[in-house]
Amino acid sequence: MKKRLMRTAIIWIVVFAGASYYFYTQKQMNDGVIALSPDDNESAAVVIERPSRDSDGLENEDASLEIGGAFSLVDQDGQPVTEQTYADTHKLVFFGFTNCPAVCPTELQKVTLIMDELGDDAEKITPMFITVDPERDSVEQIKGYVVQFHPRLVGLTGTQEQIDGVKNAFKVYASKVENEMMEEYMVDHSAFLYLTDKDNMVLEVYPSTDTAEQIAADIKSRGL
Ligand code: NI
Repeated sequence: MKKRLMRTAIIWIVVFAGASYYFYTQKQMNDGVIALSPDDNESAAVVIERPSRDSDGLENEDASLEIGGAFSLVDQDGQPVTEQTYADTHKLVFFGFTNCPAVCPTELQKVTLIMDELGDDAEKITPMFITVDPERDSVEQIKGYVVQFHPRLVGLTGTQEQIDGVKNAFKVYASKVENEMMEEYMVDHSAFLYLTDKDNMVLEVYPSTDTAEQIAADIKSRGL
């Protein structure tokens, strides 16, 4: 009984910490800045300024957020890929893990809705899911996962080193949550959608409070 109470208490602490982080980052997003820890080993938060839009509402050519860029990963068919593999399209990138109970499925369903909403413009976008949990997210695991959301959703994994590289490039926060009373570990992670240019540099970061309609409208307004 005592053990069960302990377990319940721990679950609530984890949920509370996750929720606090989530609301904190959402507030920062609404204030026009995002504060993300680039790596769990580094305490310094990185502040990303959102690019200003000109009066036409169109994105400036070099208005990238200076995050994103090169990566070297493995796709859901086991093929080695880099950012050059998808050089003819913009990317809509989400980081998460296949065992995620709620946030990841919700955000990936949103990606599907955005692709539908974009109509013909969807061809200009490669939707992409990159795992922050390469330890469990094997090529086979990723393959079985991405097909549940969109036929063109690319699922990427890699070695821990490759994943750390792309996480750092995108300033993604992810931290393993482990406890002896939990059967499986969880990964607390940031839940932003990134729109990139063809060189994989990030043009916009959408918080999870943005709807599929809002994001699709924003993408269309850029005249990609
Ligand atoms: Ni998740």
